[in-house]
Amino acid sequence: MIKTFDVVIVGAGGAGLRAAVEIPKEYSCAVISKVYPPRSHTGTAQGGVCAALGNMEDDSWENHAFDTVKGSDYLGDQDSIEVMCRDAIRAIIELEHMGMPFSRNEKGQIAQRKFGGHTKPADPNDPYSNRLPVMRSCYSADRTGHVMLHTLFENSIKNQVTFFSEYFATDLLIENGVCKGVVAMDIATSELTVFQAKSVLFATGGNGRIFRITSNAHVGTGDGMALVYRAGLPLEDMEFYQFHPTGLWKLGILVSEAARGEGGILKNSSGERFMERYAPTVKDLAPRDMVSRAIITEIREGRGIRGSDGTDYVYLDVSHLGKELIDEKLPEITGFARTYLGVEPTKEPIPIQPTAHYAMGGIPTNADCEVLMNEMGETVKGLYAAGECACVSVHGANRLGTNSLLDLVVFGRRGGKAIAEFLKHADFQPVDESAADNSRRIIDAVMNSTGGEKIAALRTELQNSMMELCGVFRNEEGLKKMIEILGGLRERSRSVSIQDKGKVFNTELLGALELQNMLDNAEATVFGAYARNESRGAHTREDHPKRDDVNWMKHTFAFRKNSSYPELKYKPVVVTRYQPMERKY
Ligand code: FUM
Repeated sequence: MIKTFDVVIVGAGGAGLRAAVEIPKEYSCAVISKVYPPRSHTGTAQGGVCAALGNMEDDSWENHAFDTVKGSDYLGDQDSIEVMCRDAIRAIIELEHMGMPFSRNEKGQIAQRKFGGHTKPADPNDPYSNRLPVMRSCYSADRTGHVMLHTLFENSIKNQVTFFSEYFATDLLIENGVCKGVVAMDIATSELTVFQAKSVLFATGGNGRIFRITSNAHVGTGDGMALVYRAGLPLEDMEFYQFHPTGLWKLGILVSEAARGEGGILKNSSGERFMERYAPTVKDLAPRDMVSRAIITEIREGRGIRGSDGTDYVYLDVSHLGKELIDEKLPEITGFARTYLGVEPTKEPIPIQPTAHYAMGGIPTNADCEVLMNEMGETVKGLYAAGECACVSVHGANRLGTNSLLDLVVFGRRGGKAIAEFLKHADFQPVDESAADNSRRIIDAVMNSTGGEKIAALRTELQNSMMELCGVFRNEEGLKKMIEILGGLRERSRSVSIQDKGKVFNTELLGALELQNMLDNAEATVFGAYARNESRGAHTREDHPKRDDVNWMKHTFAFRKNSSYPELKYKPVVVTRYQPMERKY
């Protein structure tokens, strides 16, 4: 079956829906989503979306841009960061006008709170020396992503977008550098549809499911990134993967940094506020890479708390904040602690551990969300990407909390605008039913396989080994081992067979397709990490503990090769006004 739309957006999280809102009504626009749109992973974002509104104290977009560059460990492209931080203020007011119910301060303005790495100078005449936490993150209690997602869903319905919910994209159609559409499988029937489109925008989110402990929903299997990679296009900076410091112990469910923004404190087994030793000025509000490393270091050095299953954690204590504040500003995360760990946060500390949270890397794009086909910056005509699956790069080596919801509204809109402009002169490229043949061959191979390998076993091995060998700390030996493991998993994945031979909601088939996507994501991540002989942001090489600006102020571009060893190329970082400095907090 062939369906034809001017625009096809793959993914119905914040970036995809924000782009959909921007497409003028005279163009037909389809949104394809693996889940019903309000179940997209954006809905789990908790603590806020940042913009230098200055509602609670003086602030400026330049402060925000500097923090983002410094937080990125100087790997973020500064031209794109300026675009994002400058546009943030307008973007938040726009969301308010769309109907997003933000929490309010006493004056009735959008309320703002502190978040890790967001600062302003103590002395305005000396912007780079002593910087203190600033209230920059706009929020709706601790459900900011949830209300944002619903607001954007309602607005895209108003914009008469056509939704294909529970459709799973299986192929990206590109010929001679021009995008022609995508192929997707209706999960309800396993039927394939060729979506012919003048333009396609990927907004398929992250890939946290390649790690065992993750805050990511089950949908976070890096599907868009894998499709792009398999189409011969590069993935950028995949080695930079963020561990959020505070996931619920064992489960990884996010416990928002808002808890620390509101005054929560991290403590080790002796009750010490250990962040004072690692980041003496901002303490618990240091950026995530630093806090995650500090937690793992405390545990490694014997200052963690041993759980009943033999794994370790530290404490996040909010009990001193009082029930009233907790119930008003942190209801969701404290509810999670009660429900899943049986802990009462108004009275006792919450066991937490770092959790795989966010891919800084992804599909390389320029600031108009056009997908790059190489490290020289040439673009694929008609193909766009935005949100977590994309790498603009505004987060560089380490994203600041609340910059991701901002990224997806700013660049979702810019992608939508760029597509609207493109459509003024674009034509459909010819496609026929045979465009689905590649997907059909892959699906048939899984359905008919009699091999002895099981999806769950391979997935578990991938997740466990990624966690151990390519997590917060990495080294050459571990990464080499991970490369071998990946090669073995790739080989074994060819013999995966499934028991469900039916066509209706065959989630086992879906699992097999997702597993291939996860392996592709892991491949680009591990090889990039192995090659990068330095420590920068979230990429910490114990065998190369220093940042190396002379050799590594550059973005990795990983291209898939049939040999299953990706080819790595590099692109220089864009520096505008902020020269690299030592990163102290
Ligand atoms: O901690 C949090 O609420 C997460 C925010 C983010 O990842 O931006």
